[in-house]
Amino acid sequence: MPNETIRLLQSHVSERDFTGEPVADEVLDTIVRAAQRTPTHRHGQQISLVVVRDAHTRQRLYEVTAGPQPQITKAPVFILVAVDFHKTAVAVKAGGGEQHFHESLEGWTVGAVDAGITLATLSTAARSFGLGAVAIGAIRHDPQPVIDLLGLPPRTFPIVGICIGKVNRPAQLRLKPRLPLSTYRHDERYRVDALTPDILSAYDAELLAYWREVGRPDGVPWTQRVQPYSTSIHPETKIIAERQGFTLAE
Ligand SMILES: Cc1cc2nc3c(=O)[nH]c(=O)nc-3n(C[C@H](O)[C@H](O)[C@H](O)COP(=O)(O)O)c2cc1C
Repeated sequence: MPNETIRLLQSHVSERDFTGEPVADEVLDTIVRAAQRTPTHRHGQQISLVVVRDAHTRQRLYEVTAGPQPQITKAPVFILVAVDFHKTAVAVKAGGGEQHFHESLEGWTVGAVDAGITLATLSTAARSFGLGAVAIGAIRHDPQPVIDLLGLPPRTFPIVGICIGKVNRPAQLRLKPRLPLSTYRHDERYRVDALTPDILSAYDAELLAYWREVGRPDGVPWTQRVQPYSTSIHPETKIIAERQGFTLAE
């Protein structure tokens, strides 16, 4: 039973072909305010955004991000979603205590979940204005220059970014296929046998057909797509997170 919100959510695609036209201030303000309204763990509000419109800063972000990700320079707006335990530390101190939550895996998890909710809300809010959006997790490729460039204090971490702006769209927008719903939705209890070899090879074929259809002969099946990041561990995230105070000792 679709409605306007469901139609918007079910038509999600990550868009990268930005025109470069500026986003109006009122639109950007509305998108940001919508994101600030999201729930946060225990009302801790452990998220901050850095809204970047300056072309030089976006160019520097492009240079330090794994990729290439030209959408960072093409989109007029880049928003960094930072996990922010600086604000709570100030508040804890004002209340007479000392914060340790950010040093725990639970704290890191809380921050990452809240960042994900924020990211999705920014994307949906932007798309509701007819804009395109794409998340940029690749900023964690080299987090230190991002921290320095955007002036992030200790106890904060750049989890993900998002590019927002007007986009050129193909006449027929093609959604990237997902695995069958039967592998995603488990009723009452997880079914380990939901993902069979047959389902996997059928999905590989479906994804290959999608790549051909959208003119990307370099596109690979899902069993290949998941290889590079699933078989490497990317140590920079932990090293820089520790430097920022997320020691994860507990
Ligand atoms: C947390 C997160 C990080 C992502 N990072 C990047 C990125 O760095 N660069 C990029 O082009 N797309 C990025 N994406 C977009 C995914 O590649 C995209 O969602 C996926 O391929 C599915 O395609 P679709 O969103 O068009 O359906 C990211 C998505 C998420 C949720």
